[in-house]
Amino acid sequence: MAIDGIDWEDRWSPYDEETYRFALEVAHPEDIVVDIGAGDLRLAVRMAPRVRRVYAIERNRAVVQRATALHVYPDNVVVFCADALTWPLPQGITLAVLLMRHCTRDHFATHVRRLKDVGCRRLVTNARWKMGVELIDLQCRRRYDPYLAGWYACHCGSVGFNAPDLDQITTETLNHVVDVVVCPKCTV
Ligand SMILES: C[S@@+](CC[C@H](N)C(=O)[O-])C[C@H]1O[C@@H](n2cnc3c(N)ncnc32)[C@H](O)[C@@H]1O
Repeated sequence: MAIDGIDWEDRWSPYDEETYRFALEVAHPEDIVVDIGAGDLRLAVRMAPRVRRVYAIERNRAVVQRATALHVYPDNVVVFCADALTWPLPQGITLAVLLMRHCTRDHFATHVRRLKDVGCRRLVTNARWKMGVELIDLQCRRRYDPYLAGWYACHCGSVGFNAPDLDQITTETLNHVVDVVVCPKCTV
């Protein structure tokens, strides 16, 4: 995403420990993980002992070279210097990690579509809300409902709030997010 001439999506910077801990805690021993935009591999290296395999995809060659020179990374981490928007995802991936707050909505939708195409079931990301981190069930088929009051977050990357009837707005609707597919802003 270019803002003031800077492509922030292309910039490497690490996230906070809470974000990484969330990603580590949702991983299961049988998971095959793809870390999209893996940066300096700091999460991939920590994830490796908890799962079967980690595919770490990072397109910034300088970051990858620095990271691979620094870490002796475990055998079950496979590093690719490639563009994850086009790199052929292997079948069998069960968990994806997309920690990339500046990911555009179009790119988010593309990552989600490609992950679904290879049967990936879960996605850990901070790219949809741009804050915090969430776990998305990629098998969710719930369709957007314009008459349902409250927050929604769509697999295309859009988020929003519906208030068809102000009487329906309660503390519960304010604190709850419904995960949906096929919203009005949808591209997937
Ligand atoms: C904000 S950094 C976060 C790095 C890592 N996820 C972390 O939490 O430490 C985002 C990274 O995603 C990489 N990136 C962005 N788009 C990418 C793409 N399409 N394919 C591979 N890497 C990408 C950038 O080069 C950058 O290193």
